[in-house]
Amino acid sequence: MLVRVEGLKKDFYHGGRKIQVLKGIDLQIEKGEMLSIEGASGVGKSTLLHVIGTLDTPSSGRIWFEDHELTALDPAQLAHFRGRNIGFVFQAHHLLPEFTALENIMLPALIQRLPVSKAKKRAKELLDSVGLSHRSSHKPGQLSGGEQQRVALARALIMRPKLLLADEPTGNLDSKTGEGVHNLFFRMNEEREITILMVTHNRELASRIPRQLHMVDGLIDHTSTRKPEDHKEVKDGNGAQDLEITTDIVKESASKVSVHSTSGESI
Ligand SMILES: Nc1ncnc2c1ncn2[C@@H]1O[C@H](COP(=O)(O)OP(=O)(O)OP(=O)(O)O)[C@@H](O)[C@H]1O
Ligand SMILES: [Mg+2]
Repeated sequence: MLVRVEGLKKDFYHGGRKIQVLKGIDLQIEKGEMLSIEGASGVGKSTLLHVIGTLDTPSSGRIWFEDHELTALDPAQLAHFRGRNIGFVFQAHHLLPEFTALENIMLPALIQRLPVSKAKKRAKELLDSVGLSHRSSHKPGQLSGGEQQRVALARALIMRPKLLLADEPTGNLDSKTGEGVHNLFFRMNEEREITILMVTHNRELASRIPRQLHMVDGLIDHTSTRKPEDHKEVKDGNGAQDLEITTDIVKESASKVSVHSTSGESI
């Protein structure tokens, strides 16, 4: 088991009134699982993700991550724990505009005091695995929306987190570009065995995710699971094939252009 959530409640106070947003969530996430959270706007999906990700504290209830009770840690311990165990991808990429793609990916590792050479090696490997070696020295403003999200995904993985939390990561992308980014999440889950919890409004995507949590009014209303044979169908289908072809084209063109060394040398 990776995460265990018990009786999680979250209240917000607004204009002197208490708003109960999470009303007692119980949830267990196994190592290597991929789960989606669906539900209407305002049911508390992002709030649940933030609280599990320790970006926000619950009003009551407890959260365990492996053997650690997160709800017992102080803010400094939480920040350290979060930096090393949890990766985030949001709807907006939140890349820093003045840094290159490679530098953006390196930043969380530098903040966690990894040596520059190690951070750069990992960042290059991740850029390659998201098919963007040839965009290494581009700044976010010089990347397409799909490329920006792929860089954001690479950045979320630089510390090799056990848990990746994604909040509508393709919400701002057109469906074809979004599918390519989704496929990368599936690949990271399969190849790196990263546990992924993803909020999505995309029904087609959610139907490919093994376990789907459906939220209604601050609670998990029900859970559905995808049958293994459905997964095979999708993997063999055109979507996955398209991505492989695209990735090959990207890799091929990357090998033809010289990848310029970036200003990252001096970080
Ligand atoms: N900091 C806050 N202060 C007060 N209310 C908040 C705060 N953050 C969220 N809320 C309220 O909590 C409820 C749930 O918000 P949340 O962002 O979790 O919804 P969501 O399910 O992610 O919705 P969406 O699909 O629109 O992103 C909303 O009614 C929202 O207004
Ligand atoms: Mg939300």
